[in-house]
Amino acid sequence: MKHIDISKLFSNVSDYVNQSVTVCGWVKTSAEVKPMTFIQLNDGTTSIKNLQLTIHQDKMSEEDYKSLIKPLLNFGVSLKATGIVVPSERNIIELEVESIEMLGDCPSSYPLQKKKTSVDFLRTIPHLRTRTNLIKTGMKIRSRLAYAVHSYFAGNGYTYVHTPIITDSDCEGAGEMFRLTTQPWNASYKTEEEYYRDDYFGQKAGLSVSCQLEGEMAALGGLGRIYTFGPSFRAEKSDTPRHVAEFWHVEPEVCFVDINEIMDIGEEFIKYVIKDVLDNCSEEMEFCNKFIEKGLLDKLNHVVSSDFARIDYTEAVKILESSKHKFEYPVFWGCDLQTEHERYLTDVHFKRPVFVVNYPKELKAFYMKQNPDGKTVAATDLLVPGVGEIIGCSERETDYDKLVEAMQARNMPLEAYEKYLDTRKYGSVQHSGFGLGLDRLVMYVSGISNIRDVLQFPRTYKKIY
Ligand code: 4AD
Ligand code: MG
Repeated sequence: MKHIDISKLFSNVSDYVNQSVTVCGWVKTSAEVKPMTFIQLNDGTTSIKNLQLTIHQDKMSEEDYKSLIKPLLNFGVSLKATGIVVPSERNIIELEVESIEMLGDCPSSYPLQKKKTSVDFLRTIPHLRTRTNLIKTGMKIRSRLAYAVHSYFAGNGYTYVHTPIITDSDCEGAGEMFRLTTQPWNASYKTEEEYYRDDYFGQKAGLSVSCQLEGEMAALGGLGRIYTFGPSFRAEKSDTPRHVAEFWHVEPEVCFVDINEIMDIGEEFIKYVIKDVLDNCSEEMEFCNKFIEKGLLDKLNHVVSSDFARIDYTEAVKILESSKHKFEYPVFWGCDLQTEHERYLTDVHFKRPVFVVNYPKELKAFYMKQNPDGKTVAATDLLVPGVGEIIGCSERETDYDKLVEAMQARNMPLEAYEKYLDTRKYGSVQHSGFGLGLDRLVMYVSGISNIRDVLQFPRTYKKIY
């Protein structure tokens, strides 16, 4: 269908004024103010800004108006209109309609009526909620962030690597892997092994919780500096505003880099992608600043222009212990920081992003570099106000024996990690990497407070939307 994007009309006003154009879109609102009729049209190329279509009622017979125009005034109808672009004091430009036709009717059963709706209700109509300003804005910001992720890494000499989603190893060792099978349980099998031998892959398989191990193999395998970007899956039974079972995971792996340098990279990367969105999504960011989180723009501008805090885990525990705040979970050296602890550090104490470094080794995965103190590992989480952890990061253990020891201490089957262990045998080098949850980054940048609203079709504990 020959037509022009509404965004193009707004971004090149002088090219289109007094020209005849055809636009398509969905009716956001309409109003009849005799002798005029106004329709606000959105085609998805803008988030908030609509094109106003102006119709002169007296330019047609009453019957024609009733049969041709009236049915177009319903919320959600899709239509095509041709007319002249005219300047407008209020709307920058409007379209003086010359011909108009319905593309798809939208009966009154349409669940998105003009009245205000709740996010809970919108989650029940994921296929339609992208027509709302809130969800559409989140999707646009998400899309731009994904673009900025690629642009940062491409501009810094990283190779984009596609790693498998189907895997046989649980990278994080937290037992949160979804199992993948094609055969129903058959009671005639006596052992699990026997059962898996008959399964599609002839062995146990699952959905990847992280591409890190393959990423390390690619980086150490000679690519030097790589990143992966795709979905990761976690069968975590965490029904919270920041957990989904399927999330989008950005994972760089960088050779010849230690824990401090990877934090520098992480900080530069976060600032880069935020700045990109501030520069390129002003319409969406202004909407978020006004309707979702007051002060969001100031917050993000500050994030981009100032240093992130960096503190030792031990210091973080001291800050929490000496605070007057009553925590539900007790704080002591060795405790896993709970959401309430993280929120205290970011929202109350630092009021900006903070890297917490050198966690007790028992709390973290097998692959992290063991520090000389024998108690901690060179691992860091980046915590941000309002959301909590958005990055999990570490320098990797490169010493073969220490790595094997850490795996044995966790009862990991070494034979399943043979290829990974080879990387520590053949030209092993210092390397570090991190994982960023894109969905949580979208929450942070947009101010949208529930992860269910930054993905169109979220998958969460006990619920597929
Ligand atoms: O901290 P995590 O578990 O780290 C890893 O997976 C490492 N292998 C990453 C690496 O070093 N390559 O996960 C990394 C990030 C978290 O900080 C969080 O942002 C996100 O992934 N994440 C989730 N996001 C939404 N829902 C979940 N269930 C998530 N689990 C992790
Ligand atoms: Mg983590």
